[in-house]
Amino acid sequence: MMKSEVKTSLLDNMIGVGDSVLLEPLTEDSFLENLKNRFDHSEIYTYIGSVVISVNPYRHLPVYTPEKVEEYRNRNFYELGPHIYALADEAYRSLRDQDKDQCILITGESGAGKTEASKLVMSYVAAVCGKGAEVNQVKEQLLQSNPVLEAFGNAKTMRNDNSSRFGKYMDIEFDFKGDPLGGVISNYLLEKSRVVKQPRGERNFHVFYQLLSGGSEDLLKRLKLEREFNQYNYLGLDSAKVNGVDDAANFRTVKNAMQIVGFMDDEVELVLEVVAAVLKLGNIEFKPESRVNGLDESRIQDKNELKEICELLGQDQAVLERAFSFRTVEAKQEKVSTTLNVAQAYYARDALAKNLYNRLFTWLVNRINESIKAQTKVRKKVMGVLDIYGFEIFENNSFEQFIINYCNEKLQQIFIELTLKEEQEEYIKEGIEWTHIEYFNNAIICELIENNTNGILAMLDEECLRPGTVTDETFLEKLNQVCAVHERFESRMSKSSRFLNDTTLPHNCFRIQHYAGKVMYHVEGFVDKNNDLLYRDLSQAMWRTNHVLVKALFPEGNPAKMSLKRPPTAGSQFKASVATLMKNLQTKNPNYIRCIKPNDQKTPHVFTEALVCHQVRYLGLMENVRVRRAGYAFKQPYESCLERYKMLCSQTWPHWRQGARDGVQVLLTELQIPPEEFSYGRSKIFIRNPRTLFELEDLRKRRLEDLATLIQKIYRGWKCRTHFLLMKKSQITISAWTKRHFQRKKYLHLKSVTLLIQSYIRGWKARKLLRELKHQKLCEESATTIAAYWRGFQIRREYRKFFRANAGRKIYEFTIQRIIQKYFLELKKKLPSMSPTETAWPARPYLFLDNTHTELKRIFHLWRCKKYRDQFTAQKRAIFEEKLEASELFKDKKALYANSVCQPFQGDYLEISKNPKYQKLTGAVEEKILLADVVNKINRANGKGAPRIFLLTQSKFIVADQKSGQIKSNIPVMDITSVSVSKQTDGLFAVHLKEGSTAAAKGDFLFTSDRLIEIITKLYRTIFFKTNQKINVEINNEFLVQFNQDKVCVKFIQGAQKNGNLPACKRKNNRLLEVTVP
Ligand SMILES: Nc1ncnc2c1ncn2[C@@H]1O[C@H](COP(=O)(O)OP(=O)(O)OP(=O)(O)O)[C@@H](O)[C@H]1O
Ligand SMILES: [Mg+2]
Repeated sequence: MMKSEVKTSLLDNMIGVGDSVLLEPLTEDSFLENLKNRFDHSEIYTYIGSVVISVNPYRHLPVYTPEKVEEYRNRNFYELGPHIYALADEAYRSLRDQDKDQCILITGESGAGKTEASKLVMSYVAAVCGKGAEVNQVKEQLLQSNPVLEAFGNAKTMRNDNSSRFGKYMDIEFDFKGDPLGGVISNYLLEKSRVVKQPRGERNFHVFYQLLSGGSEDLLKRLKLEREFNQYNYLGLDSAKVNGVDDAANFRTVKNAMQIVGFMDDEVELVLEVVAAVLKLGNIEFKPESRVNGLDESRIQDKNELKEICELLGQDQAVLERAFSFRTVEAKQEKVSTTLNVAQAYYARDALAKNLYNRLFTWLVNRINESIKAQTKVRKKVMGVLDIYGFEIFENNSFEQFIINYCNEKLQQIFIELTLKEEQEEYIKEGIEWTHIEYFNNAIICELIENNTNGILAMLDEECLRPGTVTDETFLEKLNQVCAVHERFESRMSKSSRFLNDTTLPHNCFRIQHYAGKVMYHVEGFVDKNNDLLYRDLSQAMWRTNHVLVKALFPEGNPAKMSLKRPPTAGSQFKASVATLMKNLQTKNPNYIRCIKPNDQKTPHVFTEALVCHQVRYLGLMENVRVRRAGYAFKQPYESCLERYKMLCSQTWPHWRQGARDGVQVLLTELQIPPEEFSYGRSKIFIRNPRTLFELEDLRKRRLEDLATLIQKIYRGWKCRTHFLLMKKSQITISAWTKRHFQRKKYLHLKSVTLLIQSYIRGWKARKLLRELKHQKLCEESATTIAAYWRGFQIRREYRKFFRANAGRKIYEFTIQRIIQKYFLELKKKLPSMSPTETAWPARPYLFLDNTHTELKRIFHLWRCKKYRDQFTAQKRAIFEEKLEASELFKDKKALYANSVCQPFQGDYLEISKNPKYQKLTGAVEEKILLADVVNKINRANGKGAPRIFLLTQSKFIVADQKSGQIKSNIPVMDITSVSVSKQTDGLFAVHLKEGSTAAAKGDFLFTSDRLIEIITKLYRTIFFKTNQKINVEINNEFLVQFNQDKVCVKFIQGAQKNGNLPACKRKNNRLLEVTVP
């Protein structure tokens, strides 16, 4: 079934039939086949009416998820597929909403899944009931009581790795809102014999293994325990480890659970001490010792173990040792002590261990009850969950099986009673006639066992209390006498000789025909187990310990409270508690879960039919179905019935406006169902045969298919029509838009064409008009011209005699003159400034004055310059002339020139006449000094410089010592032929002298001076004035000079500067003098 589909009835998508009541035909085979079919499809739950059959899947099925809980929550029982949750939900809602106390009875054989089922019910109820911190704590405590009880009360058996070895009934109490308040647990008959002995392949109770595996080193040391299982006689060796079970982890879980339930740390410690003591008791061994008086005695072999037990329990070692050696019988104030032989000592030891453990277990249950009991006194609603051992048939059945089967017999009885009662009540309530149902009533078997005067249990008690030798055989004899006539009792030795030759029945056995089958019981151990004796010496010894828990476990050991009355036998105790239980259950609304074990291998997917068949038989399931089906197989409220089948009748489909019952009546009549097939109850319709129901289901299925087709058809039609309408609408819209578009296009075209034509026509009209107007104007102008000419002609004719022949030329000249006059006057107004550097000139007004205008500009500039020059004094003019001369000589030729432009040529820098130091020199120079400055004279031989005064007059130049003013050379300017300088920025210059002149004896002069430009310009002008000749000024980076006889080449090279701007001269050889310039 798809997840999205919604189930509304159990009948939807059934595998086989979900409710066995609907089986057709109903036989054991069809019943089994149905269970198997469902089991193979992972459907482990099947109903018999409201009873849930659960087949153990032995694997995890995904049907217990929180989603499943939600699915089943608040749904009616038959609404969804069979599930344990449906039952739990029904029970819980009935408890909460109808205020009916509930009990959930879970039965089935060992390993069938009872405990799991009980836990599922509890967890479901916990999940759906109220929430809140306090409620959650109660829930948690109730749920956590399970692991604690399972650790102490469960064990691995051949049939089940986690077999409950006690019966458990738990009342969960709720308040009026359905919130849990607390609980009470009752336990039934722990299988205590397991403590001292386990069948092959089985284990002792889980707690022993959990303690040894999971206890810390420290804890084990405190409890004086060893970790290895094989150290302990009480632990079966062959199956100490169980596959898939982690004892150590479980120990932690149990300790944690104890904490949650409310155990104090020291309480846990006390409990574990008792567990350890039980374990260690098994290791005490006895050896025989013969006494002189012939009596057999026993001695403890190794007292170490005893010592440790006594330390653990705070016991006096001697007291316990004595209790293992003697037995005191007290009768009428007389005490008789007898010694115990080895067998009796072992019996005593085991009895103590069993008792200690059994009492510890009962104490635990009570302690848990104390924790989980409801804290309020308000009225409570109760849900009881019974997880009790199922019917047991072993090869060798003993007292325990007898007791267990008795309990199951009682449960079966109450089951039949309640089911029938419920069924009958419903019939009466619905007003349907009740037909008597034949079924097997097992009351007779219960009677056989529990009858107070001649029941088997009463006989056993009688035998146990009887003075004299009592053995199992005497007990059997008694049974043979009393029960021989009972139809369900079988024995070889009974008075009736029915079984005399029945070899399947041994002599020491009796057989009971239980409702679930015949079971043969061996009488061996019956008396002993029923007596359940613990020697008084031992209980007294236990009471005398300092261990608070152990002391509390043996209250009868207190000598002050000692009574001579025998304690009630195990059988009568159990009978009493079963009776209480039955009474309790009868007051509650029962819900049944019947668990079935599908195979003996504990494996998934295996369904052993024989095994299941056996269980189906003894659980009386067929009986159950028959009872449920008595008269009518199926019943359903009218509303649900109408809702489910209303589509089968045109009158009820789709709506029926009247009452549901009438609707169902109309429906069934129209369908022509034979009237004997159904009955109308008050609120429900009762259908006799499942076949009828299935016919209805078939019709419904077919009709649903038709309806589905109809819905599909209508839906498709609707969908297509909607689609069509949409397409139509779209088509109209599209065509409207297209038409609009084309019309618009056409309109625009027409418009533009019209406009064009219009414009052409307008243009044509306008042109026509223009032509006419132009013509008109032309006519008018022509007329005017003609008139003017005509008038001119007339006037000329009239005034000709007054005209002069050259008047035109005069007028022309006059006009030109006027224009020129105006031009000059205007120009005068706009004349630019008188600065010679000014370049601006007014714009030309007339094209024909172009040349004049340019010429005037030139003339004006020349005039302006002249005016400027006229301002100069003679002295200033000479300076400018000199500057001009310098410019002509050096501009763009020597790099040094640029520096000199801004320096005014002062000429006399030394003022010799005023300096007394140069008196002698002043005397020698008569003429006006043109230039006086200090220069560096370069030594011809080595190129080194020496400062000299350089004097220039109008006819000569003088070189004198700078310090003394002593004249070194006096040279007429006429002897100078030329001067040479470099192109660079240096101040070196050579003065070449005329060959043969006196001055030239030593050769040409080489000077350096920063004022080179001024010196040479002055020298040049002086010579020109004197000789009217221009000397040659050579500007070159290489020139020749005459030193004495040598022609030396002066070469300028670029180099690093050493002494500022001064050139460094170096005479390289005779022919070369190198001047390094920057
Ligand atoms: N519904 C279930 N889903 C999965 N596994 C299950 C289910 N019920 C039972 N089992 C498996 O079967 C084992 C035995 O179940 P459980 O202990 O409930 O049996 P029991 O009827 O209580 O037996 P006993 O009478 O010996 O106590 C469980 O340990 C578990 O492995
Ligand atoms: Mg169990």
